[in-house]
Order: sequence, then structure tokens, then C-alpha cells
Amino acid sequence: MKKVSIIYWSNGGNVEVLADAIAASATENGAQVTIKHVTDATVEDVMNADSVAFGSPSMDNNRIEQQEMEPYINQFKLLPNNGKKLVLFGSYGWDEGQFIIDWSDRMKDYGFDVIDILAVKESPSDAQIEKAKMLGEQLAK
Ligand SMILES: Cc1cc2nc3c(=O)[nH]c(=O)nc-3n(C[C@H](O)[C@H](O)[C@H](O)COP(=O)(O)O)c2cc1C
Repeated sequence: MKKVSIIYWSNGGNVEVLADAIAASATENGAQVTIKHVTDATVEDVMNADSVAFGSPSMDNNRIEQQEMEPYINQFKLLPNNGKKLVLFGSYGWDEGQFIIDWSDRMKDYGFDVIDILAVKESPSDAQIEKAKMLGEQLAK
């Protein structure tokens, strides 16, 4: 059974809806899923997982959320990630998803195997929820 960890930050709920869809799908596809708001997450949640998804809104000038998500993510810079499978997901108001592309480049630099990204404008459409479910399936494989 694959261990999948989904760690996200959300205030208005848009990113949380995506996190829940990924988690439900990974569970349906046989994974053991840990889903946490980043304030409850530890480094071990990632280190002990076979595959991981990180989620954030675009905040504070088109970056991931800076008060809680940024320091959490920064910890992985110096940790061995062994090409761990990673999905990045999030929501933006106006940056058209550029923040996820920037974040993806950064996580590749940290040694993760970024297998897919999903950025939605504000709340996800039905099609974007379907894509989130597909990501959950990929993480469970
Ligand atoms: C304080 C604040 C700052 C934001 N900054 C940006 C930004 O820099 N670029 C952008 O595209 N959207 C920005 N947004 C829009 C959010 O990314 C968007 O509303 C997102 O859906 C929020 O996700 P959540 O509902 O999971 O909290 C900002 C929203 C807030 C409340």
C-alpha cells in the first residue's frame, strides 16, 4: 500500500477543496492517505511518504503563502528527497498560475520528481475537480 501525504494551506477553502478531492481519490485507489493543513504538518509527513502533494494559494505578490507554507517548504531544500513523486496544486486570483510554475521549478531544484501541477482560478470547476482526482490516482500508483 502506498503512503501518500497531502499538505496544504487554505484560508478561503479553494485549495482545501482540491486537497480533499486528491485525498479521496488516492484513498479510493488504495493508498494510505495523510492530509493535513500545513500548520499541523511535520517534515516526517513527507519523509515517510512514497508520494506527496503540496497545495497553496497564490499570495503576497504571486508566491506561495508566505507565513506558514513558505517556511514549511523551505525545510526541504537541504533534505534528501530521492526523486520523490510530487504533485503541486493551488488557486490564484490573477496570476494565471505562474506561481505554480515558479514553485515547480523550485521543487525540482530541491530534488523532487514533480509529476504534475494543477492551478485553478479561485474555485475549481467540475473539470478541474476531475483533474484533481486523476492526480490522486497517480499518487496512489
Ligand atoms: C491576502 C491575499 C493575497 C492574495 N495575493 C494574490 C496574488 O499575489 N496573486 C494572485 O494571483 N492571487 C492572489 N490572491 C487570490 C488567492 O490566491 C485566491 O483567492 C485563492 O483562491 C485563495 O485560496 P483559498 O480559498 O484556498 O484560501 C490573494 C488573496 C488574498 C486573500
